Amino acid sequence: MIDQYGRKISYMRLSVTELCNLRCRYCMPAEGVCKKCHEDMLTEDEMIRAVEAAASLGISKLRITGGEPLVKKNILSICRRAAAVEGIDEVCLTTNGTLLPELAKPLKEAGVRRLNISLDTLDRDKYAYITRIGSLDQAAEGIRAALEAGFEKVKINSVLIGGFNDGEIGELAELTQRYPVDLRFIEMMPMYDGGDFGKDSFIPYTRVLEVLPELEPVEPDGGVAKLYRLPGAIGNVGLISPVNAHFCGSCNRIRLTADGKLKPCLHSPSEYGIKGMDFEQMRCAMEKVIYNKPAWHGLLDADNPSHAGRNMNQIGG
Ligand code: 5AD
Ligand code: SF4
Repeated sequence: MIDQYGRKISYMRLSVTELCNLRCRYCMPAEGVCKKCHEDMLTEDEMIRAVEAAASLGISKLRITGGEPLVKKNILSICRRAAAVEGIDEVCLTTNGTLLPELAKPLKEAGVRRLNISLDTLDRDKYAYITRIGSLDQAAEGIRAALEAGFEKVKINSVLIGGFNDGEIGELAELTQRYPVDLRFIEMMPMYDGGDFGKDSFIPYTRVLEVLPELEPVEPDGGVAKLYRLPGAIGNVGLISPVNAHFCGSCNRIRLTADGKLKPCLHSPSEYGIKGMDFEQMRCAMEKVIYNKPAWHGLLDADNPSHAGRNMNQIGG
């Protein structure tokens, strides 16, 4: 379906839970999230109905997100059913990777084609710091399991954080020379209770190009990342710049949160609840939300945090 600004909307991100087994500092508060009333969350049947409604409006790509989608007990069933919906060509999933040792193969068998795995540092102590409770070894095992399971694509997402991992840009990018992965550096977005990051933590994507002048531009693949490659690499280095070079003009996505709110834009406060609706009602709500998708996400920088009114774990990135 086409929105009021002529953008073709073909991609939905479905957050299946707000819960996570990590506590990344740029994503959620230290105490985690108060478990919302079970009744407020979408049921599996409602999620699938929403995917069907979205597909009937021309959504062909679905990404499953969280919180951490793999902590959801019925995640394999959700993936399997979503992948079987007519019109859905591709189901992908974003994860922190820690549960992939057990789940990589079953996810592949359930029809998930591609995985994005978060990894901000290659240093054990720094990983424990940024995730507050995570273990780098567990995440690395997860990435290994994903590569063994044979997904079409495995991408690693690193959030760029000044004073934290800007000294590791080279090492992270070098993973694309050793493994069949893409490494994407994502500018950190200031969320509404954005942790304790000072201004200097928000560094622009151009820093990567300064550190790695040997990066060669590569043809874009239709995604939001600007693509590059290191000499001799197997995978690409992607730069994602929601803050310093926003891509709202070509945005093709909508989001559905675990508590059943359709969000036309990651950073806008507008939400439309579809919990409890039947197929026709969901379809009609989605049509309105897509049509009225805002032109852009508004001013976003260290002084002007997101207007989303939610932290990232409650939206799904
Ligand atoms: N800014 C940029 N990226 C973020 N993510 C979570 N919070 C933020 C933020 N504030 C990323 C995670 C993960 C994806 C779901 O979103 O690192 O890769
Ligand atoms: Fe969990 Fe991902 Fe948020 Fe980290 S960024 S706390 S792994 S949802």
